[in-house]
Formats: sequence, structure tokens, C-alpha cells
Amino acid sequence: MSANDSHVVELRAVRKEFEQKLVLDEVSLSVRHQERLVIMGQSGSGKSTILRLILGMMRPDAGSVFFKQFEITRLTRRKLQQVRRDIGMVYQYSALLSSRDVHDNVALPLEELTEKSKKEIDKIVDQKLELVGMTDAKNLTPSELSGGMRKRVSLARALVMEPELILFDEPTAGLDPVIASVIDELIINLSEQSKVTSIVVTHEMASAFRIGTRMAMLYQGKIIEDADPETFKQSQNPVVAQFLSGSTEGPILEGSQDAIAKK
Ligand SMILES: Nc1ncnc2c1ncn2[C@@H]1O[C@H](COP(=O)(O)OP(=O)(O)O)[C@@H](O)[C@H]1O
Ligand SMILES: [Mg+2]
Repeated sequence: MSANDSHVVELRAVRKEFEQKLVLDEVSLSVRHQERLVIMGQSGSGKSTILRLILGMMRPDAGSVFFKQFEITRLTRRKLQQVRRDIGMVYQYSALLSSRDVHDNVALPLEELTEKSKKEIDKIVDQKLELVGMTDAKNLTPSELSGGMRKRVSLARALVMEPELILFDEPTAGLDPVIASVIDELIINLSEQSKVTSIVVTHEMASAFRIGTRMAMLYQGKIIEDADPETFKQSQNPVVAQFLSGSTEGPILEGSQDAIAKK
């Protein structure tokens, strides 16, 4: 079995549980070439878990995960490492190494995963730092950067391997609204210029609608809506409607994520 050729990522009936909690209950989802899929959901709903499954950092309890023609869940460790080079990841808290300056953080994947010379690496790093507007910060350390700048560096690092897919985990969490929209714009521009496919996980509505070419909502282990942004906005699903309006009235209760019983 292989994924449909037009799909960059496909999840088929993926199930994942932790201890007493069923986090993903037969989740199926696919992402086509150059789409920007936004996955929304409450905190603790399983969004980061989906990204970890795509990266092969954890395995599902049932179902399968494809990246292009590769069934991630069936690859050997060695093959997985090779396939992962085509996937860039921007972590929620940027995950930069504090002991390395900006240049060296961005260079890291190239040093670890390629045989490129220092000269070639420097050239690629300069080019990616320019793309994210961080050329002048090249020799600063992460502690000298603002949250928005760290995010830019993290973006540059995700781009150095020229990935086909980039996964973003809450890219604007903790940023003030103005910086958040700047980062959203950057994500859109870079995706379009580099012709990459993206999956963006967020619980921030404004970001979701700015970035997404398609929106999916995860709730109690299931994808309860999956549509283009316009259709999504009109969703008749009361959970989606409540999530969109941020209303306290509706089926979503405080702590409702804890209420999912293991089946
Ligand atoms: N490695 C793990 N071990 C145990 N529980 C986990 C693990 N990873 C995630 N979980 C639990 O699964 C649920 C979903 O987590 P996560 O995917 O991080 O949610 P989100 O990113 O939507 O906030 C949470 O209740 C979390 O505590
Ligand atoms: Mg998360």
C-alpha cells in the first residue's frame, strides 16, 4: 500500500493512546502538495501528537502514517532518518541551542546531516537568514533575541535542508499580536516561494485564518471538520462554532479534554 500520489502526508485511521487517555481515535487526514493545512484544537487535544507521528518520533497504536510514498510507521530507523531530512520542523518554543549563535544554530542540520564544506554551509545559512530577515543577527546568541526573532531563526533552520514539508507547532504562541501577524506573513511568503507544503498547528483563530488554505478541527480524538476556510467559517458543527466565537456557551466545557474515556 502506498499513499495516493497527490498526497504529501496521509494519516489513515490513526489511533494513539496514552495511559488512560485516547488522544487520537481513528484520525484520517491528508495534505496535498503546496497546501497549508491548519489543525486547530484545544490545548491537550492531540495536535502536537499528530506532528510527532508524522515525524516518526512516536508510533501510532493502530493505523498508518504516510509521507509521500513512504509509510513512516514501517520504515527502518536508518531509512526514517533519511526521509526526515525532507521534513522541516518549527517547534513551539523555537528550540534553539543556547550555546550556539544564530549562524551556528541554523547551520546545525547541514553539519549533522550533509557532507557540505564550511563554505557551502555558510552560503546556505546566509541565504536562509536573509529570507527570514535575520542577516544582522547572525552572531547573536538566542538569549539576545526577542521571541519573534527566535521564531525567525527557527524558521531559517527548518529551511536549510530544502524540505518538501514543514511542520509548525503553534508558531505564534507567546508572541504579541503584531509580531504574530508578521510571522504568519513570513510563513505564507516562504511557503509560496519555496513551494513547500505546510501543516500548522494552532489554537489561535486569527493566525489560523491568515495562514490556512485548509482547516481541520480536532476534538475529542476526532477530526470533526475539514474544509476550506470559507466553508469552515460556516460550519454547522456546534463545537466548531463555539471554538470560532470563543464563546463560553456550547458543548466545549472547561476540562472537557480530560473527560475522554479510553475506549
Ligand atoms: N509522551 C506522552 N506520554 C503521555 N501522555 C502524553 C504524551 N504526549 C502527549 N500526551 C498527552 O496527550 C494529550 C495530547 O497532547 P498534545 O498532542 O501535546 O496536545 P496539544 O498539542 O493539542 O496541546 C495530552 O493530554 C498530553 O498530556
Ligand atoms: Mg501542542
